[in-house]
Amino acid sequence: MKPKVYVTIPLPDHVREYIDQHCEIKEWTEERPITKDELLKEIEDVEGLYTTWVKIDDELLNRAPNLKVVSNVSVGFNNFDIEAMKKHGVIGTNTPYVLDDTVADLAFALILASARRITELDSLVKAGNWQKTKFEQEYFGIDVHHTTIGIIGMGRIGEAIAKRAKFGFDMDVLYYNRNRKPEAEEKFGAKYADMETLLKQSDFIVLMTPLTPETEHLIGEKEFAMMKESAIFINVSRGKTVDEQALIKALLEKQIYGAGLDVFQQEPIETDNPLLQLKNVVTIPHIGSATARTREAMAMRAAENVVAVLTGKDAIDPVY
Ligand code: DGY
Repeated sequence: MKPKVYVTIPLPDHVREYIDQHCEIKEWTEERPITKDELLKEIEDVEGLYTTWVKIDDELLNRAPNLKVVSNVSVGFNNFDIEAMKKHGVIGTNTPYVLDDTVADLAFALILASARRITELDSLVKAGNWQKTKFEQEYFGIDVHHTTIGIIGMGRIGEAIAKRAKFGFDMDVLYYNRNRKPEAEEKFGAKYADMETLLKQSDFIVLMTPLTPETEHLIGEKEFAMMKESAIFINVSRGKTVDEQALIKALLEKQIYGAGLDVFQQEPIETDNPLLQLKNVVTIPHIGSATARTREAMAMRAAENVVAVLTGKDAIDPVY
């Protein structure tokens, strides 16, 4: 008998075929995301869970006594209660490597859009407000090339951002990380800096840390106060790594020039969130890895993880 896997998100056909060769697939087929209560009813007899975002906690694990592996279709795994998963002997996996360049591209899209006011000026043109009589200074932005980027969290994606910054835009690269990254220093001329130095010296501050209890609200009022008035803050990690109220205050009080945000405290963002009223903020709906090719690669990698564990092999990307 094949082991059972519950799948909460749509599968590309070839990924379904691959899982199907090794496992019995049960899946959520409605257009809306499954709720926690609905999921709890589905997982009592499954050995594998293929999912994203769902909180994997004691409550869920107690309801799935046969569960051996949770395969997250994302690189982030802040939805895992790791202690609870270890206690229940459940392996957790993610999808690293395959999305590094795609997320780094997106970080640069936000850097460029914020610095050159692309979304703001796009709206202006489309609204018919491009007036020749206006002084062109009204459309000025700030340069990206030959400036300093500060990367907080120098993992694989951080390094892919550093590479683009160094070789694409002649930027000086500062980074802050739990440990030094000699390879990044050698390859991209990245200089390790303490948090204060990075915040004070960078023109673009890119937050790339995973969300953990240690990084929750890593950037708050004190940190925004250290940034240059001309600084642009970019977040492509998780919304909760920033104190969003402090960010709003820093933007409203013009302590910083602008922000480019892929992630928010609450997702989808509340429609009355003040960030949505600010012209100097570029907002996008958590699309860091959202290209067809990369999402397919992530879907396949997650499938390989679940199949590996359920066929008695080691997980390819265990997160602990
Ligand atoms: C991830 O994989 O964790 C990303 O946030 C998805 O865009």
